[in-house]
Amino acid sequence: MLKTKFTINLTFLVILISGCQREENYITNSSIGLFSYSSYPIGTAIDINELESNAIYKSISLKEFNSITPENIFKAEALQPKPLTFNWTEADSLVSFFLTYNKRIHGHTLIWHNQLPQWIIDYQGSPYEWEQLMKVHIQTIVKHFKNKVTAWDVVNEAFNEDGTLRNTIWKQKIGVGYIEKAFLFANEANPNALLFYNDYNLESNPIKRNSVLSLLKNLRNRGVKVDGIGVQMHVSTYYPEPTQIAIAFQEIIADKFKIHLSELDISVNPLGKNIILSESLFNEQANLLGSIVLNYNQIPKQYQYGITFWGISDKNSWIRSFYNREDYPLLYDDNYMPKPCYYKIFKVL
Ligand code: XIL
Repeated sequence: MLKTKFTINLTFLVILISGCQREENYITNSSIGLFSYSSYPIGTAIDINELESNAIYKSISLKEFNSITPENIFKAEALQPKPLTFNWTEADSLVSFFLTYNKRIHGHTLIWHNQLPQWIIDYQGSPYEWEQLMKVHIQTIVKHFKNKVTAWDVVNEAFNEDGTLRNTIWKQKIGVGYIEKAFLFANEANPNALLFYNDYNLESNPIKRNSVLSLLKNLRNRGVKVDGIGVQMHVSTYYPEPTQIAIAFQEIIADKFKIHLSELDISVNPLGKNIILSESLFNEQANLLGSIVLNYNQIPKQYQYGITFWGISDKNSWIRSFYNREDYPLLYDDNYMPKPCYYKIFKVL
């Protein structure tokens, strides 16, 4: 009995050690990761559950990327699930893990209309009380991560496609000035942090982009600190054209805002059809990525905050679950093998 137990334990130990060894080898001995080739940061969104349960995912995140955006655990429902009860456990563990490896942490997101805790949705209060709620939420978080999180998506997705302000709970309760106030509160809590406005379709929809730019320029002219724009870049092999993307970059830098390609993924099946996978499909995806990166390379250095992919493997992409469709939008396939997209970046960085 004792002997069997010993044998099993020994076998387990050998498996454990060789597993760790494999992970270690991947990080230290294989070819150099993406970020080492780049003059600006290359990032990924990180899902804490994958990080804690999947050794390959963890290795790739460390080897390839030097900027980390927590995918969900900085959102209001995660950080302030109950009034004035902040839950730092997961966020602190993710932040301290990546800081150990000198990664930059990008804070996503302070004010958004999605992933709110129920108590905020149900909150009854005057406009002033809502403003205080927003102030406490922003400032408690920004101060908690001072010196650790160096940049924030202060407001996320505040505009409609027709260029009008989205009628979010924040706009309804505080009024149109909520965006300005959010930036002021964030700046007050950490004057050194870079402050971003983040949204989608800014690369493809000039009407929306112009509205965002006019609002942000207006804030800046009034002395409010706004450093840059997160262009999410949830794009597809169908749309938009690289030339549209280049125009968007030019307009944003003409207004002197930094550009973060903040949530890049390239759908190969935006219409959710039954698709046939082929080499040419993934080459097309890689070519689009190549031209996005080449365009980004043209931006003056002071405006290049970096490029962040919204995940690592197709398997964990939000697109599959959110849109409930077959899709393959990221750099790694379902088995964590690099795709043509991955090799393309090495060529163009
Ligand atoms: C997504 C996450 O990736 C999903 O895991 C979550 O279920 C929903 O939110 N725009 C954003 C991101 O700003 O926060 C969203 O992230 C994707 C769209």
